[in-house]
Amino acid sequence: MTASASTTGTTGPDLVAPTAPNRLTARELTLAYEDRTVVDGLDLAIPDGEVTVIVGPNACGKSTLLRALGRLLRPRGGAVLLDGTDLARIPTKKIARAVGLLPQTPVAPEAITVADLVSRGRQPHQHWWQQWSGEDERAVTDAMERTDVTALADRPVDELSGGQRQRVWIAMALAQETDLLLLDEPTTYLDISHQVEVLDLVRRLNHERGRTVVAVLHDLNQAARYADQLIAMKAGRIVARGRPGDIVTADLVHEVFGLASVVVPDPVTGSPLVVPGTPWQAEQDEAAQAEQD
Ligand SMILES: Nc1ncnc2c1ncn2[C@@H]1O[C@H](COP(=O)(O)OP(=O)(O)OP(=O)(O)O)[C@@H](O)[C@H]1O
Ligand SMILES: [Mg+2]
Repeated sequence: MTASASTTGTTGPDLVAPTAPNRLTARELTLAYEDRTVVDGLDLAIPDGEVTVIVGPNACGKSTLLRALGRLLRPRGGAVLLDGTDLARIPTKKIARAVGLLPQTPVAPEAITVADLVSRGRQPHQHWWQQWSGEDERAVTDAMERTDVTALADRPVDELSGGQRQRVWIAMALAQETDLLLLDEPTTYLDISHQVEVLDLVRRLNHERGRTVVAVLHDLNQAARYADQLIAMKAGRIVARGRPGDIVTADLVHEVFGLASVVVPDPVTGSPLVVPGTPWQAEQDEAAQAEQD
């Protein structure tokens, strides 16, 4: 019996609970900086327990949207709702226990060490009567191991390479142990193997721990590979959303990025692989050349 088949009105043990609602939603969301409106009247529901990836050209409003979802930016109009309540009406610490946000360009306090920065992820869980618990210790150790930064624990963050630093920020976000995780370009600065490692980690958090993840990624092919749900944005609007296999086409790539491409199945995963270029153009050029010869 499915949840929607509960027409008999019974509440027997075989009745599957209705699908969980979307914990994080936005209603008629308008986001602006002074006189520049970036997002205007956007409705959005983040699917619980899935990985949602946002893609779109530079300056289309991805980070602005993510910051609003994490209450780092106050909406000009409309609202972001967590479990049906406007974020503006939820205490900051309570939000921070539910939603973790890694911004695009986080700034570390001067001279802070890696271990101290990662430990800050535990602040929302601490109380005045207990500053540091075994649970905090476990979460920090676990987050540092998962991101491969344990060996850097005593190093000052501002002396790390860009990629090392990025992994430390991800560790801090993981240490927060929130059900919802918002990551703005988590793979920036990472070499290809660390990119894959971080994205695999995100996948595992989702599969093994049921975390809901929203990530902004620039690499369309990684987005298509790792997203359950893909959101394509352009000029502050959602142009398309859905399973990558259902929505990634050469037309969409052209509409969103103004780029000619061919979309083929990724040889490893079967997800859409976007290859920039127009093969017919090359063929035409060859034909024209042959005519001349
Ligand atoms: N703090 C700010 N003050 C004023 N304007 C801003 C601010 N932050 C962003 N903007 C503007 O808002 C628009 C959207 O920026 P946003 O950072 O959301 O883009 P993005 O899609 O994340 O781009 P990118 O891919 O380059 O990270 C841009 O025009 C940008 O210049
Ligand atoms: Mg951005």
